Amino acid sequence: MGYDEVQQAASWLQSRTQKRPTAAVILGSGLGSVVDAMEDKEVFAYADIPGFPKTQLKGHAGRLILGRIGGQTVAAMQGRFHYYEGLGMQAVTFPIYVLRALGVERLIVTNACGGINRDFVPGDLMLITDHLNLTGLNPLIGENDDRLGPRFPDMTEAYSRRLLALAEQTAGELGLECRRGVYAFFTGPCFETAAEIRALAVLGADAVGMSTVPEVVVANYLGMEVLGVACITNMATGIAPEKHSHEAVLEIANRSAARLAELLCRLLAK
Ligand code: HPA
Repeated sequence: MGYDEVQQAASWLQSRTQKRPTAAVILGSGLGSVVDAMEDKEVFAYADIPGFPKTQLKGHAGRLILGRIGGQTVAAMQGRFHYYEGLGMQAVTFPIYVLRALGVERLIVTNACGGINRDFVPGDLMLITDHLNLTGLNPLIGENDDRLGPRFPDMTEAYSRRLLALAEQTAGELGLECRRGVYAFFTGPCFETAAEIRALAVLGADAVGMSTVPEVVVANYLGMEVLGVACITNMATGIAPEKHSHEAVLEIANRSAARLAELLCRLLAK
């Protein structure tokens, strides 16, 4: 992954669409139906975009969709890449570089995750206030290209306070209750152990998942304003009375997608 590959992917897209999005949304597992609310859609399969990783996952469509929501031109990633697929962190975050090169300045990142905070229940939406990355992985490791961003990016406001306030206000207008909390990144693909979840709770995590953090680190590096919205699809290991299943995660995510879509549409229009 380098500057030239990013420019190549962006040029490829720009030569195929007139749309110039300034905001983008990444749709997590089971949340892809949010694109139903988009109008005037132009669809690009990840497999066709130069430089995009070539992988498949159940519950992830793998398409970049450019369209309009509430008069705004937006890009939606229906499905994302995960480190557990065996991709490098740079491949996982490649689309973020391309979105930035397309002109995207504000990024909404969504995901399905496990609840650690015992006040949460499956189906809750949680606005992400901050994250914990205890994996030792970082997508920015390697030689820095100053054309893209700084060597030592600041993470004071990894999740924009302005967007967080706007999201809370918008949720209020819709009568939607949103939680707030800290998202902890584990690579997966296995779910966490009960001991890991107890440790994460002590460290201040409210939820845990296998995505989001790589993209948010790169988005901050590139100077984007970020909002994170997590869908609590299950209680984390040791808190949930039953064992986890990916199918159950998808089912709860699917059920929450309509509420999330409402929130995202209203937000993107703003
Ligand atoms: N852990 C990690 N990732 C997840 C979970 C979880 O409990 N639920 C959905 N994604």
